[in-house]
Amino acid sequence: MSDPAALDAADPLAGLRDAFHLPEGVIYLDGNSLGPLPKRAAATLRDVVEREWGESLIRGWTAHGWVDLPERLGDRIGRLIGAAPGATVVCDSTSVNVFKLLAAAMRLRPGRDVILSDEGNFPTDLYIAEGLIELIGRGRLRRVPRESVLEALDAEVAVALLTQVDYRSGAKLDLAATTARVHAAGAVMLWDLAHSTGAFPVDLAESGAEFAVGCGYKYLNGGPGAPAFLYVRPDLADGLRPALSGWFGHAAPFAFDPSFRPAPGVGRLRVGTPPILSMRALDAALDVFDMVDLADLAAKSRALSELFIAEVERRVPPGEIALASPRDPAQRGSQVSFRCPHGYAVVQALIAEGVIGDFRAPDLMRFGFAPLYLRFADVADAAFRLAEILHERRWDRPEHHIRASVT
Ligand SMILES: Cc1ncc(COP(=O)(O)O)c(C=O)c1O
Repeated sequence: MSDPAALDAADPLAGLRDAFHLPEGVIYLDGNSLGPLPKRAAATLRDVVEREWGESLIRGWTAHGWVDLPERLGDRIGRLIGAAPGATVVCDSTSVNVFKLLAAAMRLRPGRDVILSDEGNFPTDLYIAEGLIELIGRGRLRRVPRESVLEALDAEVAVALLTQVDYRSGAKLDLAATTARVHAAGAVMLWDLAHSTGAFPVDLAESGAEFAVGCGYKYLNGGPGAPAFLYVRPDLADGLRPALSGWFGHAAPFAFDPSFRPAPGVGRLRVGTPPILSMRALDAALDVFDMVDLADLAAKSRALSELFIAEVERRVPPGEIALASPRDPAQRGSQVSFRCPHGYAVVQALIAEGVIGDFRAPDLMRFGFAPLYLRFADVADAAFRLAEILHERRWDRPEHHIRASVT
């Protein structure tokens, strides 16, 4: 079945679209970068600001449970990533969480010096690894092409730092099989789940991976700069010495002890005062996921992407653009990328016409398919407009060639 109207009529998630504020006339294919506003988040934020903060003042830390919010949100995200309760905490940014967990991984393997990563990994992960190595005066970053990562495992590798879904191509690694190979080489596995969480179910506990991080503002729709999360395999948490030992990771922050004594469990990796407004927005955004069967999420993510590829390839003559994502949906996350020599201008032309995707240098047009609010009809319409823009060269207008600072 590839009739968009029939697919929409049969979609078990169709009713969730109404939980989001989506601007009139916009087809939003960038929820893999920044999710849209859940209506509940807007209402919650107003209440948190005016009633909780405004009226309760400092009493809000206990009266409104602000102090435990990082753990409570961690458990809500834990359900989406296959983590046991108590293994996930929401805190800081993904970059900072990569730092904390890479440092922990290096401590777990004192006799090994290599941080192994994919040379095309999201740059912040590589930058953080470089910075950590310089700081601790130990280690080397071994960057290899994504397809060679497993062959590059050897007895020097302390930790493999990999992003499950590649931010450019959308290529997805098999979490369990990759983790098993990393473990067979004696290394620690640290997953970046930025482009996985909230797009399809993840089986972190079953994979046995030691550590994971992910973003709150992409498929989780927590808002711009929403806090990130980190996961620690439960058997390891009580043995970790946090590299960033802040007072909110202390066993008793309000004892004002002059020395650091880590909290039990994953909470020891918290650092400072949690950003409550951002956390409550994320909390409200996660309410939408309570209504979702994760199997439906995965099935729709796949069906939306398949429809887009089929419609684009049916309408655009071969040679003008080329699929840059794996064709096999089992090897793809919830995004589809096409290579196009005029990709930047084409994406600008699409945005000007209300179809929001994004561009990644040098030539990738990237489209995200978030299952909670996208309709099949929108996806077919986006493919139609892309084909028209190419056919009529509407991208070749001066305003579409001007480079913006955020792409
Ligand atoms: C794979 C991946 N990791 C990390 C980040 C950045 O995370 P943060 O800005 O929250 O530190 C991104 C942002 O797009 C990303 O795609």
